[in-house]
Formats: sequence, C-alpha cells, structure tokens
Amino acid sequence: MSQSSDIQFNDGAAYERLMGRWSRKVGREFLRWCNVPAGGRWLDVGCGNGAFTEEIVAHAQPSAVQGIDPSPAQIDYARKRPGVGLARFDVGDAQALPYGNAEFDAAVMALVIAFVPDPAKGVAELARVLKPGGLAATYMWDIPAGGVPTAPFYRTLKQMGMDAAQPPSAEISAREPLERLWRGAGLADVEMTEFRITVHFIDFEDFWQANTLPVGPQAARIKALAPDQVDELKRRLREQLKPAADGSISYEAVANAVKGRKRG
Ligand SMILES: C[S@@+](CC[C@H](N)C(=O)[O-])C[C@H]1O[C@@H](n2cnc3c(N)ncnc32)[C@H](O)[C@@H]1O
Repeated sequence: MSQSSDIQFNDGAAYERLMGRWSRKVGREFLRWCNVPAGGRWLDVGCGNGAFTEEIVAHAQPSAVQGIDPSPAQIDYARKRPGVGLARFDVGDAQALPYGNAEFDAAVMALVIAFVPDPAKGVAELARVLKPGGLAATYMWDIPAGGVPTAPFYRTLKQMGMDAAQPPSAEISAREPLERLWRGAGLADVEMTEFRITVHFIDFEDFWQANTLPVGPQAARIKALAPDQVDELKRRLREQLKPAADGSISYEAVANAVKGRKRG
C-alpha cells in the first residue's frame, strides 16, 4: 500500500459517517464546476467507498465511470452501493494507473491528492489517461488552513504536544501548491476555486462518535491515547468548539479545487 501505514481507509461504512456526508456536499458543487458534457467517460481516482462515484453517475450523465482505490475493503463497499449503476471498480494506485493512454474525457481525484505520496506523479497519470481536451480536476480540504472537517482534532492534538498524523502530502492542498501542480503537469486552461460548507453535529457526543471511528488519519492517533489523554482531549475540544444553546456544534470546512485540460 502506498499510503503511510497509520492512515487507513478500510471501512466503507465508517468512512460514510466520518467524511462521506461532508464529501458528498462539496462533491456535488465540484461536479457542477467541472462542467463536463454529458456522455463522457469518467475516471474517479481514489474513489474510496464510492461516495463521489455515485454523484458522477447521478449528475454527470456519463457513458462510463471507472473508480480505482488502493483499499480492497473500500472498493468492496463501493461495488455494493445502490447508486453506482454503470460504474466499474478496480483496486490500484493513483501513481501507476492500470489504464491505457487517452481513454477518458474526465479524470478526477476527490479528496485524494494529499494522500498520494508523489502528487506530481498522480497528476501526470491523470493527464496520461485523458483524451486530448479532457479534464483533469481535483478538490481537497485546505489542510494547512485548518479547512478539513476533522481540523478540531488535528489542532487540539497539536496543542497537547502530539503529532496529529496528517496525510503525507498535506501541504499540496493549499491553493498555490495545487495551482503549481496543475500547471507543472502541462495542463491548459487551469482554473481554481474554493468551496465552503458548514459541518454540523447535533451535540458533542455526535461530534466525538463520528470523529473517532476507525478510519482516516486521526483514528490510529486517538486509539493510541491513554484514558487521561482522552479526557483531556475531550475537555479541550468542548471548550474550543463552543456548542450552541441546544448543544449542537457547527463550523466551516473549506476545500480548494483546481481543473485544467489536456492539450490537444
Ligand atoms: C478521504 S478519502 C476520499 C474518498 C472519495 N474520493 C470521496 O470523495 O469520498 C481518500 C481516499 O484516497 C485513497 N488513497 C490513498 N492513497 C492513494 C493512492 N496512492 N492512490 C489512490 N488513492 C489513494 C484512500 O484509500 C481513500 O479512499
């Protein structure tokens, strides 16, 4: 597996509760922004449990959709999703796609680029498999700016003097590095945008349960904490999250997106 060993996405149902509900919200906006004509052949790299693949099938009127992810468990979950229709799935890595040159009209990575150890190689692969004029696009929570829905955990663990197990290429998710990455891959008509959503939990328990599921970067870190460290983490989180009068918790998540075309 190419990702760092303590960052695992091996449980499709847990991913759905931790991140799928937020990724779908931004995913829909991202899809509209990609603006790919109906009838396109799509490649969804790092498709995970198929949350975004389902959006492509439902809203982009594709003629074909191929998803690929290194996690066999996530791919298994994706294959069983009721809404994936015509989509097909493979287990594989963004840095060595098992597809021929010029096969797709759109090749996307939804919330993946920061997990790819060599992002430039990942984008070169997107470009290689695109037809001339095809669209390569990605969106990623802005991790350096604290835009990821799990940011309160990262921030609080750091304040407690602990490494928060960030993805291997977290820095690439900021606006300028993403734009440089796309231009560096030789893509044309490069455009950037950002998406903002409100992340909402009914109460602190809902927030804690969703964020401590055994999936994603923060899971292994939290599992390794001693009971008194868990109490301290909870205490600090409660203090910082400032629940509303009804106990609910809301904050903003921010993602950067970039798109560009393969030159003809
Ligand atoms: C945050 S999830 C995003 C899943 C899905 N695209 C979505 O929008 O909900 C990140 C995904 O990247 C995948 N991933 C990690 N390293 C990868 C790599 N080298 N190549 C392709 N996918 C990778 C993980 O297995 C995981 O499913």
